[in-house]
Amino acid sequence: MKFLSDLKSKNLFNKICLLRVDFNIEEGESIEKSPRFISAVNTIKFLNNSGAKVVVLSHRGRPKKAISDKQQATRYSLKPFVNVLSRALKKPIYFITLSDKNLREKIGNSKPKSVFMLENLRFYPGEDKNDKNFAKKIAGLGDFYVNDAFAFSHRKTASMAAITNFLPSYAGPTLEKEIKNLSSVLTNHKKPLVIILGGVKISTKLGLIKNFFKKAKPRSELHSATGADYFLIGSAMADNFLVAQGLPVGDSVYDPSADKRGFIRGLARNKKIILPLDYAVENRKILDIGEKTRKEFANIIKTARTIIWNGPVGQFEILKFAKGTNAIIEAILKNKDAKVIIGGGETVQAILNFQFSILKRKNIFVSTGGGAMLEYLSGKKLPGLEALK
Ligand code: 3PG
Ligand code: MG
Repeated sequence: MKFLSDLKSKNLFNKICLLRVDFNIEEGESIEKSPRFISAVNTIKFLNNSGAKVVVLSHRGRPKKAISDKQQATRYSLKPFVNVLSRALKKPIYFITLSDKNLREKIGNSKPKSVFMLENLRFYPGEDKNDKNFAKKIAGLGDFYVNDAFAFSHRKTASMAAITNFLPSYAGPTLEKEIKNLSSVLTNHKKPLVIILGGVKISTKLGLIKNFFKKAKPRSELHSATGADYFLIGSAMADNFLVAQGLPVGDSVYDPSADKRGFIRGLARNKKIILPLDYAVENRKILDIGEKTRKEFANIIKTARTIIWNGPVGQFEILKFAKGTNAIIEAILKNKDAKVIIGGGETVQAILNFQFSILKRKNIFVSTGGGAMLEYLSGKKLPGLEALK
């Protein structure tokens, strides 16, 4: 893999960089405060300071054919990002679509250090199909390609994979930092390692549990996790464990298809898996962990030297059900000796709601990835990273 940070700025001067970022920021989340946005801004500044022009590429949401073009354009367009990006960079951003005439000339003839933003790549069917011709068309707009979209690296799309066949391709600084931090917790973490898992989606989290259950392997193998000491489980994740043990969950959210071959039932008996002791319930739904569990989780977090956290442990959007998630944030802030990796859009949102300062702490790395972080830590190969090799 080649890194943008290794390039000399004289090689970038007046070149056009196609910069793949992930502006798929959750609806309702502040764009300016999103780690995905902040890291993209820093990379654009770096490229501009080296004299390069930048064409920003991203997808947003999952637009479906069934919605009319007009509805799609308003809900999923990247246009709203133009003003926010322009404010952050203190310069105009030129919005472009692939149907614009003489696009390459327009970009080529623009002022030095100009920044363009292309409309949502998922408006074009070739993107998700990893279509070669589509990738070639985008590649024609620039001189080199930088993948800074770690959060999208688990998707094999034209702007992540096929495009690398047509241009010199580099890993951007965001990607570089992610790989450095995530690979170090996989292979080289201090013990005890405590993994906190919540949120709704369970399948990728089970992959992570499996990977961190393995016994230690040689450190030279990048994707072999050394073992975790505790898994603290909350939210709908924990409901799956209750269901697997034949316990009632009322109308709580869980994934009926999650317990393939009794894997979760087996896990529930394992000493490393710490399930909630009590809950906050409303209208027959489990909506947060209870007071005893908050204490228990905080006591374990206190002992950790490495912490991985993905997924809030309750319905944090409602203040009275944010207590569990906020207790975790507080316990992490108190533990100044642990290396901490936090990821997932909802987890970041919960932090922004409660304790913004955590994002600035030196021992804490906030991953821009949700699904991508989980897949990486599950030991899977990510197509976006493989394409850069
Ligand atoms: C994310 O937000 O996790 C990524 O951008 C992936 O988006 P997708 O799940 O719609 O492919
Ligand atoms: Mg997401």
